[in-house]
Amino acid sequence: MKKNYLVTGGAGFIGYHVSKHLLDTNHNVICIDNINSYYSQTLKKNRLKVLLKYKNFKFIKVDISNKAIFSKKLLKVKIDKIIHLAAQAGVRHAFDYPRKYFLSNLQGFFNVLEFARERKIKELLCASTSSVYGDQKSYPIKEKFETSKPIQFYAATKKANEVMAYSYHKMFKINFVFMRFFTVYGPWGRPDLSIFKFVKNITNGDSIQIYNFGNHVRDFTYIDDVVSGVSKILKKKNKGVKIFNIGSGKKVKLMNIVRKIEILLNKKAKIKYLPMQPGDIYKTHSNSSLLNKYCGYKSKVSINIGLKKFINWFKEYYK
Ligand SMILES: NC(=O)c1ccc[n+]([C@@H]2O[C@H](COP(=O)([O-])OP(=O)(O)OC[C@H]3O[C@@H](n4cnc5c(N)ncnc54)[C@H](O)[C@@H]3O)[C@@H](O)[C@H]2O)c1
Repeated sequence: MKKNYLVTGGAGFIGYHVSKHLLDTNHNVICIDNINSYYSQTLKKNRLKVLLKYKNFKFIKVDISNKAIFSKKLLKVKIDKIIHLAAQAGVRHAFDYPRKYFLSNLQGFFNVLEFARERKIKELLCASTSSVYGDQKSYPIKEKFETSKPIQFYAATKKANEVMAYSYHKMFKINFVFMRFFTVYGPWGRPDLSIFKFVKNITNGDSIQIYNFGNHVRDFTYIDDVVSGVSKILKKKNKGVKIFNIGSGKKVKLMNIVRKIEILLNKKAKIKYLPMQPGDIYKTHSNSSLLNKYCGYKSKVSINIGLKKFINWFKEYYK
């Protein structure tokens, strides 16, 4: 059945792909975004250009940290479910600009909660992050593992969202699904994330910085797997406050990613090895079996295929 989805952060990487999928499957999408300058605004605008070709798509430029304007601009829009992806993302940026995280991720999230309450919207899917886990003692990481001691403010805001939502569920019967994404990559990806930076710098002959001397281990999740997870969750009648990992379930050493990219680009990387940075997590590795049991989620795209697809997009986009 055709639904009306509000996608916050719809000009962002994941928001763009989720919106496009919903439009392709014949739903109505209302996207809001403030097109902030954390990374290339041109990239965000170009994503929107693709979405604006669909007649069932509407974009409203608005900042969720400003409740009055945000509610007013959405006054006449019909909404069945909210997919809340707008946030100040990035782990390291929070060391210099914690207030941005407060405004978008805490004040903004509170405004989204209040908006849902006022408009009697009963279901929200919200982006959380693998960063809430910090470093763990055992892997792969399950949802029940310790998350109460975030090591940077980005993770703290995301964990706070999960806790705030719980109270809104108890008080106002609003239902939530939190998706703890594990390092997402793919076409139209975020220029601040490692795979994008490696491909860009190696292509341009610039050096790349490798933290923790290349020993970081990451669970890289291809964007199509994330979209399929979101789509499966949306098909359910979600009740309560649910929290799920969305990852690939595979771990890769950062150095191996660099080697794979070198082969695919047929070019050697100039590498600057650096120590572990403050707030860095040594290892992420997901167990997504809870989501698999809930709705059949399964990661399908291997890192080799995902990297190829990303590089193909990169070459085409920047040609
Ligand atoms: N990409 C990943 O690897 C990853 C991993 C874990 C969690 N997440 C989370 O998933 C969500 C989407 O991430 P993404 O990678 O697409 O990031 P993104 O930065 O590409 O998208 C976020 C979008 O939100 C918008 N935004 C930020 N603050 C806003 C505000 N106050 N009002 C309106 N719009 C605002 C930005 O302009 C941006 O377009 C975020 O909540 C992020 O924290 C992403």
